[in-house]
Amino acid sequence: MKPFIYITRKLPQAVIEPLKQEFYVEMWEKEDAPVPRDLLLQKSQKAFALLTMLSDKVNEELLEKADSLKVVANLAVGYDNIDLEAAKQKGVVVCNTPDVLTDTTADLTFALLMTAARRIVEADRYIKEGQWNSWSPFLLAGADIHHKTIGIVGMGNIGEAVAKRAKGFDMEILYHNRSRKPHAEETLGAAYASLDELLAQSDFVVVLAPLTPETEGLFQKEQFHTMKKTAFFINAARGPIVDEEALTEALKTGEIAGAGLDVFMKEPIDPDHPLLSLDNVVALPHIASSSTETRLGMMNLCVENILAVLNEDKPKTQVK
Ligand code: DGY
Repeated sequence: MKPFIYITRKLPQAVIEPLKQEFYVEMWEKEDAPVPRDLLLQKSQKAFALLTMLSDKVNEELLEKADSLKVVANLAVGYDNIDLEAAKQKGVVVCNTPDVLTDTTADLTFALLMTAARRIVEADRYIKEGQWNSWSPFLLAGADIHHKTIGIVGMGNIGEAVAKRAKGFDMEILYHNRSRKPHAEETLGAAYASLDELLAQSDFVVVLAPLTPETEGLFQKEQFHTMKKTAFFINAARGPIVDEEALTEALKTGEIAGAGLDVFMKEPIDPDHPLLSLDNVVALPHIASSSTETRLGMMNLCVENILAVLNEDKPKTQVK
C-alpha cells in the first residue's frame, strides 16, 4: 500500500501530479468550503502527510491520533493555525510558504492602503449607482499617500517589500519589530520606532506581524487613540491582532480616518458585522497572496516540501 496523503481543499490535478506518482492522494472535494472537522480528523489518522489551509486547525486533538503523520505543509506563510509544540512532540515537520508570496502580498497591502486613502471603492459604487451628476471640487476627496509617513508593524520580508513600495511614493518609513532591520534602515531609509512613537507619527499604520501570544490583541482602544485622527489603519496580517470592537468605535467616532482590512477576528466575517457597515472601511476576504501565479507557486512549494520529507530529504521551507 502506498502511503496516504490528504489535501484539505480541491487543488488543480496538475499541481498534485508529482505526489500521485509516489503516493496515494485524496483531496477534499470542494474548492470554496473547508473540509468538515470530523472528516479531517478521520483522514489525519492514517495520513503520512497533510496539505492544509490556514483555516484548518492542526492542534493536539488532531495530532494525538495522527500516528503515521510526518509532515504538515500549510498553504500560507502564517502558521498560527498549527500547534507547533504539539507537532514537535509528535515528530511532525511543519512547513509553510514564505518568499513565494512576498511581493504579491505586499502589492495587495499597498493596494489596500491606496484604496482606503483614495476612497476607490466608494467612488466605484458612486458611479455605478448613477450618483455622478457633475464634476465637483471636493467630489470623493481622499487623503494623499505620497510624502506621508507609513508605520509598518512587523518588518519581516513582507514588511520590507511594503516599505520598498512606500519608498517609491516618497514616503517616510517607520517600523516596529522585535529586532532591528539594518538592511531596511540602510537601503530604504526606514527608521525604527517604539510602537507608541510609530502610532503617533504615522499617517498609515500597516500591520504585517505574525499572530503570536505577543501580538494577539495588540491593537486596543488606547492604540487607536494614540493614532492621528487623519490616519488609516491597514491590517493584512491576522484578525486577532486587533480588538475589532475598539477598531469599530475608533472608525465611528473619527478617532482614526479609515481602515483597510484583509483579515478578521472570525473568518469568514459575518456580513452583518458592524465594521462592514462603515463607508470608511475597505474590506477584503483574506486575499493578500491571491494572484493565480502566487497561489500556484505556494501549492507547488507545499508539494515539494511533502515530497522532500516523505523521501527523507530536507524540506525547502520548514517552520523553525
Ligand atoms: C498567509 O499566507 O499567511 C497569508 O495570510 C495568506 O494571504
